[in-house]
Amino acid sequence: MSETWIEVCAKDDIDEEDVLRFDHAGRTFAVYRSPDDEFFATDGLCTHEKIHLADGLVMDEIIECPKHNGRFNYKTGEAKGAPVCVNLKTYPVKVEGDSVFISI
Ligand code: FES
Repeated sequence: MSETWIEVCAKDDIDEEDVLRFDHAGRTFAVYRSPDDEFFATDGLCTHEKIHLADGLVMDEIIECPKHNGRFNYKTGEAKGAPVCVNLKTYPVKVEGDSVFISI
């Protein structure tokens, strides 16, 4: 099956070590720019209580949920301990020119 790439934003719309909320087709995603200038994407809602992760804090390769401080590795989706125990789904990301795309 061929991949469908969706344009999210311009590269510079996300600062390094920051996250952007992206809503598409009734779903919400979180798109991250790491401190070493790579881009990643996960589901946008915390697996604990469906809070928007884009309102949280990015630290290195971790996104911290703003509600109960649950943490995930946004590169792998791995839940890093209580209160979150269900991993986040991750999505491929590519950068072409100045634009960021995710495959969903
Ligand atoms: S809603 Fe995210 S840790 Fe509780």
